Amino acid sequence: MGTVILGTGSCLPKRVVTNVELESVVETDDEWIRTRTGIVTRRVSGKGEHTYQLAAEAARRALAAADVSPEEIGLVVVGTISSHMQMPSSACFVQDEIGAVNAFAYDLNAACSGFLFGLDLADKYISLDHSMKVLIIGAEALSSRLDYKDRNTCILFGDGAGAAVLGYSDSDRGIIGTHMLSDGSLWKLLHMHGPESSNPDLAEENWTGAYIRMEGREVFKHAIRAMEGSVRSLLESEGISLDSVDLVIPHQANTRILNKLIKRLELPQRKVFINVPKYGNTSAASIPIALDEANDSGLIAKGDTVLFCSFGGGFTWGAALIKW
Ligand code: UT7
Repeated sequence: MGTVILGTGSCLPKRVVTNVELESVVETDDEWIRTRTGIVTRRVSGKGEHTYQLAAEAARRALAAADVSPEEIGLVVVGTISSHMQMPSSACFVQDEIGAVNAFAYDLNAACSGFLFGLDLADKYISLDHSMKVLIIGAEALSSRLDYKDRNTCILFGDGAGAAVLGYSDSDRGIIGTHMLSDGSLWKLLHMHGPESSNPDLAEENWTGAYIRMEGREVFKHAIRAMEGSVRSLLESEGISLDSVDLVIPHQANTRILNKLIKRLELPQRKVFINVPKYGNTSAASIPIALDEANDSGLIAKGDTVLFCSFGGGFTWGAALIKW
């Protein structure tokens, strides 16, 4: 009995950018990107593909799959760090675009953990009000926040959106548990400044443009440790063994991180859904896009135990378990 996912949807920008195309933008090569990250292509937004527009389309598809009307939605949350405007939120734009006239709406900034933190939030709202239906979306147009002179970051990220409609079910299915954590002390390792301050007293001394900056090696180590820790803590507190998990849908950072995590958790490769070679790291959108693809391909059956885990800027990280 609890919060179930009633439907999923996703939306990717049309333009596909290959590693070879990036060779003419920054000093890199296809071979380096493939061996270090496993990424082959990523999607890049064009006209009409702002974060909220991708989010709204993913939401429409999730609503259709769930057979839920926009008017039934009570809350819209968009996990994003690349809204096209600082205010209003992407969630408010989505609320208007899809006609969710009975919903309140806001964005959630937890970087790559945005969708999982949103899932946890929806679970709490729905457990207090069983009539509530919640739309959780992860959406990014990170191409607008990349420094295309910085080869450490610009090759890694991509754009896209994924959405899930959540509601209450009195069956034995639903969210089993979550384990979420943050550590703000390590913010410098992965961050993105806001606009340059117009108040000289608040100007940042080391403002380096409103782009993603990352110490890749350090982030790599923390990401593995944090995701492994969250997964183990959650399974232990729920008394569930990894053997009884049917599918793992991790944040799609890159294949090297995922392979290391698979090894550390001693997971069979076939149980882990990976689509990062096609889309790169889409931050908050990565888990819901992967979930929608796994769901659409028939990889998740009713009653399956699905495990999610994420890690992102903040640092923010966590894991969630759901009986589908
Ligand atoms: O959602 C969570 C967000 N972040 C992540 O998940 C990323 C975590 N980090 C990683 O996955 C890896 O650190 C990367 C894939 C980002 C980088 O791989 P790495 O093996 O840690 O490489 P590195 O940063 O230590 O760089 C090794 C070399 C350097 O050259 P030198 O100093 O050895 O001459 C870099 O300048 O590779 C160079 N390099 C590149 N070369 C070609 C860095 N980026 C590139 C590039 N193309 N795009």
